[in-house]
Amino acid sequence: MVGRTIATKLVSIGHEVRMGSRTADNDTAVGWAAEAGARASNGTFADAAAFGEVVFNCVSGRHTLAALESAGAQNLDGKVLVELANPLDFSTGAMKLTVANTDSLAERVQRAFPGARVVKSLNTMNCDLMVDPTLLPEDTEVFVCGDDPGARAQVSAWLQEWFGWRAPLDLGDLTAARGLEAWLHLWLRLYGALGTTRFNLKIVRAP
Ligand SMILES: NC(=O)c1ccc[n+]([C@@H]2O[C@H](COP(=O)([O-])OP(=O)(O)OC[C@H]3O[C@@H](n4cnc5c(N)ncnc54)[C@H](OP(=O)(O)O)[C@@H]3O)[C@@H](O)[C@H]2O)c1
Repeated sequence: MVGRTIATKLVSIGHEVRMGSRTADNDTAVGWAAEAGARASNGTFADAAAFGEVVFNCVSGRHTLAALESAGAQNLDGKVLVELANPLDFSTGAMKLTVANTDSLAERVQRAFPGARVVKSLNTMNCDLMVDPTLLPEDTEVFVCGDDPGARAQVSAWLQEWFGWRAPLDLGDLTAARGLEAWLHLWLRLYGALGTTRFNLKIVRAP
């Protein structure tokens, strides 16, 4: 769902996108590529990672490290990796984070792939809002964090240029991902209370 949303938006504004899956003949990915037009293609995770100038990880938190392994460290080296997965586990009924407090999925990804320039972003909202913040009637927040300041600045610029975010909020190094991922506890309760996924955080500062 997230991969399709981001990929479709990027193709619509003129980018070439390759959707990665475990197998090159993944039905959903093949169907998306056929529907999305000439700039869209699909392949394995490794094909997609080798193809992209930037890589979006849109796999479940549980499978993120395995998917990136299969993408191949050499295909991620030097590239901005936008990490938007949430490390959620519903196996016992209630939501649980598989990593928290003193670590985060984003930090695990950075440790496993030291050559990638990991930036955590976009994981705090539903995917329709990621690519179109104007679905909400006022400006809301999108966050970026990562250990490479240049990569954070680059992702902030892309969020503005590609998706229309006015002022992405830079939270500094990747340890900020602990909070961004833990927000899912409250996000889920808000979803239950509001009955819609169309909501987002807005930080109001004193003038
Ligand atoms: N949905 C949202 O609006 C939203 C918002 C913020 C963050 N997120 C995060 O974004 C990520 C994707 O969410 P989603 O809603 O797009 O989920 P989704 O629709 O279930 O997509 C997950 C993708 O992961 C692939 N996958 C499943 N098992 C896998 C495995 N063992 N190894 C590798 N790939 C596997 C699936 O590919 P197959 O087609 O092969 O099954 C599928 O395309 C999650 O981490 C989620 O927490 C989602």
